[in-house]
Amino acid sequence: MTTQTLLITGCTKGIGRALAIHFAQQDYKIYAVGRDQDQLSELSTVSNNIHPICTDITSVNGRNAIESALKKEAALSIIHNAGISSSSPFKLMAEQDLRQSFETNFFAPLLLTQQLLSKLKGQRVLYISTGAAVQNLESKLAYCTSKGAMHHAIQCLNTEFNSHGAYFSNLRPGMVDTNMQAALRETSLDILPSRDFFIRAKEEGKLITPETVAAFVNFVMFKTDPKTFTENFWNIYDEVYHPKWLPEGAIKPNF
Ligand SMILES: NC(=O)c1ccc[n+]([C@@H]2O[C@H](COP(=O)([O-])OP(=O)(O)OC[C@H]3O[C@@H](n4cnc5c(N)ncnc54)[C@H](OP(=O)(O)O)[C@@H]3O)[C@@H](O)[C@H]2O)c1
Repeated sequence: MTTQTLLITGCTKGIGRALAIHFAQQDYKIYAVGRDQDQLSELSTVSNNIHPICTDITSVNGRNAIESALKKEAALSIIHNAGISSSSPFKLMAEQDLRQSFETNFFAPLLLTQQLLSKLKGQRVLYISTGAAVQNLESKLAYCTSKGAMHHAIQCLNTEFNSHGAYFSNLRPGMVDTNMQAALRETSLDILPSRDFFIRAKEEGKLITPETVAAFVNFVMFKTDPKTFTENFWNIYDEVYHPKWLPEGAIKPNF
């Protein structure tokens, strides 16, 4: 593949920040989207290859700002990483939380993809999904369904665009040591009955580093053939692929 330009959303922290740094250090030109100007400015000091775009992907203006910043790029690949994970028993679920989950996890990546279609020939689009996309977790209806909708959309996009040379996939990064996990640990038990599972995972050292996720994403995005790329719902815990992306001798992050 000849991709040199990469759009990554949700780069202010967590997985997105690690992805931006990982690929910038490999000489990709990175357009790094996020909402916090200070965090983005700090990120752009890490490498001259990082070009921040400070905007909210859920707004039309925000998506237009991204399109406009990319005007001169004829081709690029995308990693849709920005996401939110709200928790609530269905009975208490606020309409606004449900809508915001779909705005962030579904409508924004899908509509941004549509706006950038003309640049995707011969390129790849990877959506950072979750096991929750195909599971039914208690108090996580908004997260599971918004991620699940995008999981289905990826397959529809492949049906429509593989013959035009654009390839789509999605990936489960596992349980990753980021603010999103910290928020789960801090949620009250009546809102998230499984909270202690997340507390134990942290205590037992089971969380994966964002940097390890970046190494996996690199393999999936740029070291697989199009058929393998599109046909997998990539799972970081899948041992079949570990020899291909985990450096030999690396300590496995609790797989
Ligand atoms: N951590 C895990 O265990 C885990 C597991 C499975 C899947 N994932 C997925 O991995 C992805 C990254 O998660 P993370 O753990 O790194 O979470 P995180 O630390 O909370 O980071 C989320 C990122 O998304 C950005 N974002 C959220 N809404 C946005 C919006 N409207 N416009 C622009 N940026 C927005 C955030 O920016 P702000 O700073 O502006 O809020 C932040 O940069 C998510 O899609 C998540 O569902 C994570």
